[in-house]
Amino acid sequence: MKGPSLPHPATATSSRNKYPRMFHLLFFLAVGTLVLTWNRLSLADLSPDSFLKKSKFQKCSVDTYLATGLEFLKTAERPPLEEYILRRNNLAKALVADGVDAFIVEPGYTFSYYANVTQPEWEVWEPEERPFLMVIRPAELPNGTVIANTSFLVPHFEEVRARLLNMPFPEKISTVTYEEHWNYYTTLWESPIWGETLSPTLMVDEEIRDFIVRGLESNGFTVVGLSGEVEAVRQVKTDREIGILRAVNTGTVEAIRAMRKCLYYGVTENEVVEVLDNTMRAAGMDPFFDIVEFGKQAALPHGGHDGQAKLEPGDFILIDVGSHLYGYSSDVCRTFYPLSFPNPPPPEYNVTEKLAVWQVVLDAQAASVKAMVPNGTAAAVDIAARSVIEAAGYGEAFTHRLGHSLGIKAHESPYLNKGNFGAILRPGMVFTSEPGVYVLNHFGVRHEDILVIKEDGEAENICGGYATSPWEP
Ligand SMILES: *[C@@H]1O[C@H](CO)[C@@H](O)[C@H](O)[C@H]1NC(C)=O
Ligand SMILES: *[C@@H]1O[C@H](CO)[C@@H](O)[C@H](O)[C@H]1NC(C)=O
Ligand SMILES: *[C@@H]1O[C@H](CO)[C@@H](O)[C@H](O)[C@H]1NC(C)=O
Ligand SMILES: *[C@@H]1O[C@H](CO)[C@@H](O)[C@H](O)[C@H]1NC(C)=O
Ligand SMILES: *[C@@H]1O[C@H](CO)[C@@H](O)[C@H](O)[C@H]1NC(C)=O
Repeated sequence: MKGPSLPHPATATSSRNKYPRMFHLLFFLAVGTLVLTWNRLSLADLSPDSFLKKSKFQKCSVDTYLATGLEFLKTAERPPLEEYILRRNNLAKALVADGVDAFIVEPGYTFSYYANVTQPEWEVWEPEERPFLMVIRPAELPNGTVIANTSFLVPHFEEVRARLLNMPFPEKISTVTYEEHWNYYTTLWESPIWGETLSPTLMVDEEIRDFIVRGLESNGFTVVGLSGEVEAVRQVKTDREIGILRAVNTGTVEAIRAMRKCLYYGVTENEVVEVLDNTMRAAGMDPFFDIVEFGKQAALPHGGHDGQAKLEPGDFILIDVGSHLYGYSSDVCRTFYPLSFPNPPPPEYNVTEKLAVWQVVLDAQAASVKAMVPNGTAAAVDIAARSVIEAAGYGEAFTHRLGHSLGIKAHESPYLNKGNFGAILRPGMVFTSEPGVYVLNHFGVRHEDILVIKEDGEAENICGGYATSPWEP
């Protein structure tokens, strides 16, 4: 059967029936989508009644929130040019104190802290193998003041794109460029920025990739890890940073308080997440995590259930949530009852133990705040809270560290755990205090507030004030 032949019958049929077949396909797709959608709708219980309830819930929550006047936003402004200059100059002084020639950083959180460019803003498609490095060196002015002198190692063909980032510098940025076939580490080493220094010592942090560190080390540089005064620069918050952290964290607690006034029994955890997120969005904040857990679900500190649990009388509601504002994070937690749950609770709900634990966790938090003093250790803060919970007999149930610092990341160093005797607290550091007690298959309680270490006096709460009872979260 060689040579030219007629079209194969099947092919012929197929081409003649192309359009009717496509209609079949579309028809089945449409029916399939309908069936799938219907299943999902019924799974999520989006009956008209439940849908209406949720819309009312959201309107109530957003309206209650907006009715506060959103005064808390007033302490925040987007960091201006001077803020970035201040940060780099603080870094320059720290480099001198640590005896290091330069700090080197790739696009990421630290880069955005010093020059307002995040990793995805530079690496638009995927992490880029060609190094784009910011090099910050200390320079001494004739009057003795130390300021930062910044350069960028950048592929030649990307130099214009680097300039178009409009990074916050008062002058044109200074670049060291390389061609694709060069050894770019040698290019950096041979550049005039090092003057007479033969083997410049570079400090890097955890965001730089290992292959770049090895490339620098095998081409004339000495590379050391983040420590000392350089590490403290980002840990000690400036007044502008504290202003933003105060706004976003207070705004997050206020959103929980507003939403709480609109809660009803039968609502699911997922519905609360959606409404709380939209409530925060009404203030221009951008939620990025939201853990909502009812009753025994809250025994898992970071969630893990499917969010379908429905609120029942007697359940504690635990919410741990974070939003962004001008790139800064909130991270707060409240454990509470809805407005309608009677105080004191009727005995049939059997909540005596839960109420006692609620108070133990609050007392633990208060003890930790007393230990947040300049020159105290991170460990001492954790231990202060842990001792209270241990004395109440729940030591085993406080399963995680007490807290962490926060800023442009929700979790930053120093970390408040009972082994961290090396980290010394300084005024201007900002911490979460978030003790908790978790009894599996029973309940969970956590309170989380944000504190600033003060030069003298008690650490200051910057998230709108502590909870005082499950009815006053
Ligand atoms: C920092 O970046 C943001 C968004 O990319 C921009 O709106 C802001 O103006 C920049 N800040 C400065 C000081 O350039
Ligand atoms: C040193 O000189 C710089 C630049 O002229 C100036 O901004 C700074 O205020 C001076 N510092 C002192 C301590 O005089
Ligand atoms: C920054 O470093 C470059 C290169 O070494 C030098 O030309 C420039 O004068 C320095 N700027 C300051 C303000 O020290
Ligand atoms: C009440 O709760 C406690 C623990 O909190 C439990 O040991 C006890 O069995 C419960 N009582 C009833 C009647 O469920
Ligand atoms: C903390 O320690 C530093 C250095 O040892 C000291 O100068 C400072 O006075 C101390 N501050 C307090 C509040 O004890």
